[in-house]
Amino acid sequence: MAERTLDVFLDTVNACNLKCVTCVFSDPRVAALPKYTMPWELYEKVARQVFPQAEYLTLSCLTEPLMNPKFARYLRFAGEFEVPRMEFVTNAQLLRDEHLQACVDARLWRIAISLDGGDAISYETVRRGASWDRLLVNTAHAQDFFASAPHQPILRVIITLVQDNFRSAVEAVRRALQWGAGEVELRETLTFPGIGLQARQLKHHGDELRSVLLECKALCDAAAVSVLILSENAPGLKVDLSGVPPCHALERRVAIAANGDVMPCMLWAREPLGNLRDSSFDQVWNGSWRARLRDQFRRERPLLWCPTCTICKDDPADDDAYFRLLAKPRPLGPFA
Ligand SMILES: C[S@@+](CC[C@H](N)C(=O)[O-])C[C@H]1O[C@@H](n2cnc3c(N)ncnc32)[C@H](O)[C@@H]1O
Ligand code: SF4
Ligand code: SF4
Repeated sequence: MAERTLDVFLDTVNACNLKCVTCVFSDPRVAALPKYTMPWELYEKVARQVFPQAEYLTLSCLTEPLMNPKFARYLRFAGEFEVPRMEFVTNAQLLRDEHLQACVDARLWRIAISLDGGDAISYETVRRGASWDRLLVNTAHAQDFFASAPHQPILRVIITLVQDNFRSAVEAVRRALQWGAGEVELRETLTFPGIGLQARQLKHHGDELRSVLLECKALCDAAAVSVLILSENAPGLKVDLSGVPPCHALERRVAIAANGDVMPCMLWAREPLGNLRDSSFDQVWNGSWRARLRDQFRRERPLLWCPTCTICKDDPADDDAYFRLLAKPRPLGPFA
């Protein structure tokens, strides 16, 4: 049995049903990209070669997992590899019984639901294309479903904050606690260039953001629910970079896109390390790339705080890097 040393970030699909203002999917060019799911044959190969080495596995990263029409089957199969910490992050708009049953069957460790707003207006302004009512119906149903199931994943609620929704964060946290969240995460956004996100970020709202975040934290503390705050602008609550460890993308972290590209992390906008269509994971993972990159990692010492990363792009001024991550071509078989 291989040692479980990897944190694996996998997208099984390159598509999303929404165009959140925070996300590369709001780039108008994305709508014209051909949508595809990682073919089952390729997924099976990834699962057999990579999942036994995973200590942590997320089945979604940059995209929406439930856009994969066979996601329940993919999840159930992942469950066979008994990864100690397995989760996926979803907007929950397409969450159905077949997914909930697969969570139970796969003994999913954690399900993360994005709740970017505490009321219909804030939520729907940020989550363009989503319905607040649908979110409430689907999450209430999931709560009932898991309550009577033999296995219940931890619920992680992620609240991503921009100017349009941060004043409703306290309401969002109340809602998350009502849903039975075991973990709440409040985060400011990474900047994806080219989608107008900078103008929505919270740079000039630090003090107000701070009081909102403190209230959110107090609510979670009172409910004994763990809360993670990833802030860049709230005075006194900013991530303390002296406490952030070095990025371990070179050693432990691996991202796999729906076309089979292998990268050190999901924001890796440089050449991929290889592709699993015609190579084995071990060939790619143990290839010469690590030696090539090690010097650069030593020189630049990136921290595992991705907004400050100097490593993941060839050219820091390359504004199209993130679009290219979604624009990878459809993988064509056969898969060796
Ligand atoms: C990219 S989404 C993919 C999963 C799924 N589609 C969803 O939204 O839950 C993963 C998480 O990243 C958050 N997110 C979106 N844009 C972001 C940004 N610019 N910086 C940091 N997180 C962001 C989302 O709110 C979501 O919680
Ligand atoms: S944040 Fe998630 S739901 Fe929103 S557009 Fe991006 S991938 Fe889709
Ligand atoms: S610090 Fe850079 S290389 Fe490391 S995980 Fe973050 S974006 Fe990727």
